[in-house]
Amino acid sequence: MEIKELSQKYKQYVIDMRREFHMHPELSMQEKRTAGRIMEELTKMGIPCVPMAGTGVLGIIKGSHEGKTIALRADIDALEITEKNDVPYKSQVDGVMHACGHDAHAAMLLGAAGILNDMKDELKGTVKLMFQPGEEVAKGAKKMIEEGALDGVDEVFGMHVMGNIPTGRIAIGAGARMASADVFKITVKGKGGHGSMPHLAVDAVLTASAIVMNLQSIASREVSPMDTVVVSVGKLVSGTRFNIIADEAVMEGTTRCFSYEVRDKLPEMMKRIIKSTAETYRAEAELEYNFLTAPTINHEVSTERARKSIEKIMSADAVMELPKVAGSEDFSEYLEKVPGTFAIVGTANEAKNTCFTNHHPQFDIDEDMLEKGAALHAQYAVDFLNEQ
Ligand code: NI
Repeated sequence: MEIKELSQKYKQYVIDMRREFHMHPELSMQEKRTAGRIMEELTKMGIPCVPMAGTGVLGIIKGSHEGKTIALRADIDALEITEKNDVPYKSQVDGVMHACGHDAHAAMLLGAAGILNDMKDELKGTVKLMFQPGEEVAKGAKKMIEEGALDGVDEVFGMHVMGNIPTGRIAIGAGARMASADVFKITVKGKGGHGSMPHLAVDAVLTASAIVMNLQSIASREVSPMDTVVVSVGKLVSGTRFNIIADEAVMEGTTRCFSYEVRDKLPEMMKRIIKSTAETYRAEAELEYNFLTAPTINHEVSTERARKSIEKIMSADAVMELPKVAGSEDFSEYLEKVPGTFAIVGTANEAKNTCFTNHHPQFDIDEDMLEKGAALHAQYAVDFLNEQ
C-alpha cells in the first residue's frame, strides 16, 4: 500500500493524540507526562524506545533490510501563554498552552511511527524517532545530540506547523531559511564620582552608550552587505542618581544572522569593539557571549527530495517556496551535524478560524494537515532510505 493511503488509517489517531497533548501542555524541559504518553504509545505499537535528554524520547524502527539511518524529529514543549480558544480540547493547565503547535508535531511523528512500523518488512534501513524536549529554550536539540540521538544518522528531517501559511500547502526551501539567535552580556566597569567633576571619575554610562553605538558598525562595516546580521542591545542598566557618575553598566542583547561563518566571527568582532571603546573612555569592559541557536540551513539535495515526497502524498501544487524568516529553531543543531531539511506545514484556514500566528493565545491548527504531516514524515524517510 502507498503511504498516502496507509496514512488514512492514522487520520483520527493523529487528531486524538494532538488534542490530548493540547489539553496537557508542559513547559520546556518539564515534558514528563508528554514523554510518558509517547513511550506508552510507541510501546503499544511494539516500537522500542528510551527516554532521552531528560524529558525526551528516542524510538527506533529497524527495517527488515539493511540500509541507511534517518532521524525524524518532533519537538514537544509548550509555552507560558493562557489559551483564549473555546474548544473542547482547550488547555487544562493554567497559563500554559501549546501555542506553537508542538502538540501537532508530537502527534504527527507518532502517526508516522505507526505508518513506518506497518511497513517494517519492506523498510531498507533504520528510522530514529526523535521526540525532543525544550525547543523553546534552545536546549533540547543540543541535549539529544549530546546523548547520542544522531549517532549513526545519515539524514535528518523535521517539520513545523505555521499559522500564517495556508492549509494544504507545505513550504520548503534550500539554504539559510531561519536565523541564528545568540545572546550576550556586556559589563562596563568605570569609577564613580560626582556629576560635577567627571574628570575625576570614569563614566560607565558614557562608555556603555558609545559601545551600543559602535556595535552597530558590525552590520554596516564589518560584515559583507550580502550577509544579514543584527546586533541588538535590548537592556542597559546603570546609575543610581542624577548627580552621581555611574561606576558600572550592564547590557544584554541578542545577535541574529544566517550563516555559520558570520556567526562564528561575531564574538571576536564584538570583543574588539567593546574593549577598544572602553579603553577610549578609560573604562574596562567584559563580554559574555552564549551561542543559543544556529541558523537553520537546509541542504539542497534534501530539500529537492522533500519536494518529491510532498508531491507523492499531496500534489505539486501543495509545494510552496519557503521565504527567509528571522525567527529561529533549534532543529538547526541537527543540520549543523548531518544533512537534512526543515519543512513548514501550512495550517491557516479561515473557515476553521486557524489563522492566528504561532505564539498567539488563539493559535489553533487545521487538523486536516495532521495526517499529511504524518504521511510526509513517513514518505520522506522511505524516499531517503530507498535511494542508493
Ligand atoms: Ni515552535
